[in-house]
Amino acid sequence: MIRNIQLNHGGKYVCVIDTDVESLSASAILVVKGPPGPPDTVAVEEITDSTAQLSWSPGRDNGSPITGYIIQARTPFTVGWQAVDTVPEVINGNTLTATVVGLNAWVEYEFRVVARNSVGMGEPSPASAKTRTEDTMPDTAPTDVGGGGGTKSELVLTWEPVPEELQNGEGFGYIVAFRPLGAITWTRVVISTPGVARYIFRNDTIPPFSPFDVKVGAYNNRGEGPFSSIAIVFSAEEVPIEAPKRVWGRSVSAATIEVIWEALPVTPERVLGYEVVYWEDDTKPDTVGKVRTSGNYSAVNVTGLSANTQYYLAVCAFNTAGTGPQSTHINATTKKPAPGQPPLNVEWTMIGSLLTLHWGPVIAMETEAEVIGYLVLLRRHRYNDVNSIITNKTRMELTLSPNDNYLIQIKALSEGGEGVGSEPIHIHKLSMGARGSGASSLNPLSLSHLSAFLISTLLLLNSSW
Ligand SMILES: *[C@@H]1O[C@H](CO)[C@@H](O)[C@H](O)[C@H]1NC(C)=O
Ligand SMILES: *[C@@H]1O[C@H](CO)[C@@H](O)[C@H](O)[C@H]1NC(C)=O
Ligand SMILES: *[C@@H]1O[C@H](CO)[C@@H](O)[C@H](O)[C@H]1NC(C)=O
Ligand SMILES: *[C@@H]1O[C@H](CO)[C@@H](O)[C@H](O)[C@H]1NC(C)=O
Ligand SMILES: *[C@@H]1O[C@H](CO)[C@@H](O)[C@H](O)[C@H]1NC(C)=O
Repeated sequence: MIRNIQLNHGGKYVCVIDTDVESLSASAILVVKGPPGPPDTVAVEEITDSTAQLSWSPGRDNGSPITGYIIQARTPFTVGWQAVDTVPEVINGNTLTATVVGLNAWVEYEFRVVARNSVGMGEPSPASAKTRTEDTMPDTAPTDVGGGGGTKSELVLTWEPVPEELQNGEGFGYIVAFRPLGAITWTRVVISTPGVARYIFRNDTIPPFSPFDVKVGAYNNRGEGPFSSIAIVFSAEEVPIEAPKRVWGRSVSAATIEVIWEALPVTPERVLGYEVVYWEDDTKPDTVGKVRTSGNYSAVNVTGLSANTQYYLAVCAFNTAGTGPQSTHINATTKKPAPGQPPLNVEWTMIGSLLTLHWGPVIAMETEAEVIGYLVLLRRHRYNDVNSIITNKTRMELTLSPNDNYLIQIKALSEGGEGVGSEPIHIHKLSMGARGSGASSLNPLSLSHLSAFLISTLLLLNSSW
C-alpha cells in the first residue's frame, strides 16, 4: 500500500525473494496519473479591437492524455481570472493556438491557459504579457437618459456614464442632443469628461415645464458611437408664486403643534405639497426646522418639538423648482410636558365579573402640564385588542368577561399628552373573588385558589402577554 502517492512514485517495482539456493523475482510497472502540468509560453500572436490570437506550449500530461484547454483572461476591471469565449469553441488536446473573441476595445488583457485530462484540471500556465486591444469608435450608448427639475430657465439632463472598459479608446466624451418636442433640429452639446453624468442647459428662452426630446451618445478619438433612445424630459418649472393664506396653529401636546392653512387654488405653477418652517427665536429666525407634506393637504402636525416653548411657524408651497413665498408667520407655544410620575398604589378587587380599580391621584409638578383625567387601558388577551377608557376620577368599575385574561394599565392624561403608565396588572379568569394591589400581589386567597392562580400565572407567562 503506497499512501499519499505522488507522480514520482510511478515506475517499475520489483519484488525479490532470496534464499541460499536461489533468488526469484517478479516485477510490475506502476503508472501514477495526475491532472496535466501547467502549459507554458502563452503568447499573444495578434490582437484586434475584439479578438486576440494566442499560442502556447503543452505541459506534461502526467500519465493521461490532455483532452482540452480552457483560456482565462483578466483586465484591470475584472476581479480575478474569468473564462473567455474562443474560436474554436472547444479546444481539444492537440490544439496549441486559439482565438479569443468578444474582448472590449482599448483594454489591457492578460491571458493564461489551463489543461485538462481524464483526471481533472491542471494548474494554470503563467500569465501572458499584458496586451492592449486596439481602439475603435464607441459601440455602447449611455443608458438611463432622463432629467428634469432644476431652477428657472434650466433643462437638466442626466444619464448613466459609460464605464471605462466600454469607452473603446482615448478622448472619450458624450454628445448630448435635445430639441423642444415637435422641433426638427437638434441642439448638440459635446462634453469631454467621461465621468460626467449630468448636463444643465440654461437659456432664458426655455419656457417653464415644457417637454424636450433628449438623446445622449458617446464619442472618442476614433469617432462617434450610437445614441441612446430618445427620452422626454421637462424643463424646470417655476416655483409657486403665491403664499398660503389663513395660516393658523395650535399646540396639541408638549411635542406637537398642528398647523392649518388654506390650500392654494390651481395655478400655472404646480403645487406638489407644502412646507412648514419653524423657529424658536424670532430675533434669530434662521434657527429653523422644516416639515414637508406632499399632496394637496392643508394641515400638518409638526412633531418632535420641545415642551413649553414658543415657536414661530410659516407655510409655503413647493414643487421641483423649489419653494414659493412664505406665509406671514404665526406663533404657538407647546404644552408643558405630561407628568413624569405614574399612578401609584393601584388596587383592585374582583367580585364575580365586576372589577373595581382604585389608584392614587397624580399631582403634576410646576413644570408639568396639569392632570385633566386618567386613561385606563384594558387589553383583552384572547382578542389582543385594547380598549381605552377616559375618566376624571381615581376609581373605576369595569365588567369583565369571565372567560378572558386581561392586562390593565393606568396613565395620567394632561394637555401635554399621556403620562407614564402604572405597573401593568394581570387579571386572570381564575381571579374571580380576588383582590390585589400593584402588579402581582396575591392578597387573601384560599390555598386552593392560590395554587390554581400560580399555575395559571405560569401558563400566562408562556402565552403571548
Ligand atoms: C438662447 O436661445 C435663443 C433662441 O433659441 C438663442 O437665440 C440664444 O442664442 C440662446 N442663448 C444662449 C446663451 O444660448
Ligand atoms: C387643493 O384643494 C383645494 C380645496 O380642497 C382646491 O380648491 C384646490 O383646487 C386643490 N388644488 C389642486 C392643485 O388640486
Ligand atoms: C395632529 O395631531 C392631533 C392629535 O394627535 C390629531 O387630532 C390631528 O388630527 C393631527 N393633525 C394632522 C393634520 O394630522
Ligand atoms: C403671537 O401671535 C399672536 C396672535 O396669534 C399675537 O397677538 C402675538 O403678538 C404673537 N406673539 C409674538 C411674540 O409674536
Ligand atoms: C369630568 O368631570 C366633569 C365634572 O366635574 C364632568 O362634567 C365630565 O363629564 C367628566 N369627564 C369625564 C371624561 O368623565
